[in-house]
Order: sequence, then C-alpha cells, then structure tokens
Amino acid sequence: MSTFTDTSLTRVAIFASGAGSNARKIIEYFQGHPQIIIALVVCNKPGAGVLNIAADFSIPVLTIEKERFFRGDAYLPDLQKAGIGFIVLAGFLWKIPSALITAYSGHMLNIHPALLPKYGGKGMYGNFVHEAVIAAGEKESGITIHLVDGEYDHGGTLFQATCEVVPDDTPATLARRIHELEHLHFAPVIEKTILSLPGVNR
Ligand code: GAR
Repeated sequence: MSTFTDTSLTRVAIFASGAGSNARKIIEYFQGHPQIIIALVVCNKPGAGVLNIAADFSIPVLTIEKERFFRGDAYLPDLQKAGIGFIVLAGFLWKIPSALITAYSGHMLNIHPALLPKYGGKGMYGNFVHEAVIAAGEKESGITIHLVDGEYDHGGTLFQATCEVVPDDTPATLARRIHELEHLHFAPVIEKTILSLPGVNR
C-alpha cells in the first residue's frame, strides 16, 4: 500500500449501492479537508441515489459490474489509477473480492447497522437487520464500524455506538435512529482511522 499512502493526501473511494445518505455525510465532512479527499464513488447499481449525490459534489463515479468484479480484475487497476489509498463501504452489498481485500488490507472500513457479531452476514442489510433485531425482542441495537476481511460484515471492530429499541418500533423507526448514529459517527471514525495509519499524512 505504500505507493498509495505516502502522499500528503489520502484519496478515498466510497463504495455504495443504495440511497447514499452515509456517502453524503462523509462527502460533506471531508469537503476542504487538508489530508483526506473523497476522490471516487464506486457503485454497482444503476439509478442508485448515491449517484445523484456524487453528481451534486462533482465526484467521479466508477460503475462496476458483477462479472469483472468477481471473476476479473476486481477493478483494482481502476482504483490504483485513481490513486485510491483507502476504501469506505457505505451501504455496499456485494462481498469484496480477495484481490481488493489483499490490496487494501487495513485500509478498508465497513459500517453495519447493528451490534456485530449479532445480525450480520449474507442477506443481513438495511431493513432485514432491523426486522431481525425487533423480532428477537432486543432492547438495544446500534452501529458497528469495522475493518473489512474476506467475510461479510466481519473484521476488526473499531467502533460501536448503541441506541434503544422501543416497544412500538418498526423497522423504519429503528432505521431512522440507526441512521442518525451512522451520520454522526462514521466520518470522524474514518478520519481517525486514516490519520492513524503509519506513514499516512505524517
Ligand atoms: C446503512 O444503514 C448501512 O449501515 C447499511 O446500509 C445502509 C445504507 O444506507 N449497510 C449494511 O447493511 C451492510 N451490511 P445509506 O445508503 O442511506 O447510506
């Protein structure tokens, strides 16, 4: 990773498949940041809300397709060409291929809308997570920000924050509370993680 990270500016790619509310908060947070720039949005879903957000902020978009991502070069050459030194998964629902896991080891974060290791794994995303939390009668849920390894929603946990699950919660009301936590904490955790990497911005 040294070729990516020994410059004065860390170039970050946000991978997102959905509405992109986290992507928006992250982009806003790093506007004008002296050491970190959101340089690319990577998206696998034509028409996803995150594409409009990238356009609003004039951030280049890399649209990816399954075959090349999973059975080709995983778009690693494109990421390298864009000088990407750090990857943030913000509502990205595909598993990350091993080529990217290896190239960005310790340089890739995911956010998950529950308190991992509970309610994570394949198929556990968005409202499915909140439905499962409510169905299990949990009194508490929250968010997990973690490094990414080869498994879904797995890797070293860097940060968790909790919120209450109230008796009349629906997946939608719980999702709103979880999104508030995500919007508050994700960007600062990204910043802290990047600035603590050896050799980055030092
Ligand atoms: C977020 O709540 C994020 O935690 C979740 O997708 C949502 C995306 O929302 N990610 C997962 O469930 C990953 N397993 P957004 O598009 O509004 O940022």
